[in-house]
Amino acid sequence: MKATAVAPSNIAFIKYWGKQDETLRIPENGSISMNLSRLLTTTTVQFSAELAEDRLTIDGQSYPPDSIQAGRVTAHLDRIRRRAGLSERASVVSQNNFPSGTGLSSSASAFAALTVAAAAAAGLRLSERELSRLARLGSGSACRSIPDGFVEWLPGDSHESSYAVSLYPPDYWDIVDVVAVVSVEKKEVSSTRGQQAARSSPFFPVRLARIGPKIETIKGIMARRDFPAFGELVEAEAIELHAIMLTSTPSLIYWFPESLKLMRLVRQWRAEGLPVYFTVNTGQDVHLICQKSVVPALTDRLQDVPELQQMIINEPAQGVRLIDAHLF
Ligand code: PMV
Repeated sequence: MKATAVAPSNIAFIKYWGKQDETLRIPENGSISMNLSRLLTTTTVQFSAELAEDRLTIDGQSYPPDSIQAGRVTAHLDRIRRRAGLSERASVVSQNNFPSGTGLSSSASAFAALTVAAAAAAGLRLSERELSRLARLGSGSACRSIPDGFVEWLPGDSHESSYAVSLYPPDYWDIVDVVAVVSVEKKEVSSTRGQQAARSSPFFPVRLARIGPKIETIKGIMARRDFPAFGELVEAEAIELHAIMLTSTPSLIYWFPESLKLMRLVRQWRAEGLPVYFTVNTGQDVHLICQKSVVPALTDRLQDVPELQQMIINEPAQGVRLIDAHLF
C-alpha cells in the first residue's frame, strides 16, 4: 500500500489560461508543452488503517489538515479513494528539487506525482489517459506531466474528453529550457485565482479566436523542427498571455523588474545573433528557450547578469514514472 512516483514539471509553449469548467478544470483552450528534465517532484503515498486523517509533508514541512495545501491533497486523495473503494487515510511525503510557488509550475509536477503514487498505492491500474484525466482534476497543467516528451492537452468539453497525449518523445528535438531564477519569492496571486479572472479581460475573446489556428501552426512548426519559427511563436504567445493577465480585473502583474530585464536581454542577444527566445508563466522567473548547441554561449552571457540567482538547464523529459526508492 506504499508507492512512489517522480514527475517532471512542464513548460507550456501554448498556454492554458481560463477554464470552461472550474470544478472539472476543463480549459478554455488546448495547450502544448514540454516536460522538464531538471524540475522534478518525488512523492511517496502510503494508505494505512492506523491513520485518523491524511498527513502531508512537502519539502520537510508538515501541513496541518486545515491548510489550503492539505485540503487540496485530501480532495485529490478522495477521488482516488472513491475509485478504489478505499477509506484508509494516507501519509504523503513530497520533495521538490526546485523552488515551489514561484511560477515554475510545481503544481504540475506535484499533482502528476501524487496521482500516480496514490493510484498505485491504492492498487488501481489505470491507463495513461485515465491518469492524465485524474491529474487534471488536481491541477490543470498536471495532466501534461503524465505523457512523455512534447505534449498536447486536448481541451475537450467533459471529464472524459479532456486529457493530454504525447506528440513526440523527449529525443525528438533538442530544445532546451534554461530557467533563469530571479527570485524565490512566492507569487501573490495563485494561478488558480488568476485563471478565474481571465474572462474579465476585454481581449480574452480575441485570444480564444486565435488559439485554435495557433495550435495548428505550432504543430506544423514542430513537425518541421523549424526553430526560429518556433521561438518567435512561443515568445509572442507568452506576451499575449501576459496581455490577458495585465488587462484582467484584478490586473495581474507577475513580472519583476529583473524578469523584464532578462526579456530585454534575450531580444538584445538575438539581435546579436544568438538564437534564444523567452516564455514566462505566472511568476517572475523567465524560461529561455534555445537549442542544445546554444546553451554554452547562453549560460556564458547569463553568468554576467547580476540579477540571476540560479540557472536550471532542462532538456525534454519523459513523463511521470513509478520508482522503488520511497521517501519514508
Ligand atoms: O495548472 P495551473 O493552474 O497551475 O495553471 C498553469 C498556467 C500557466 O502556467 C500560466 C500556463 C500553462 O499552460 O502552464
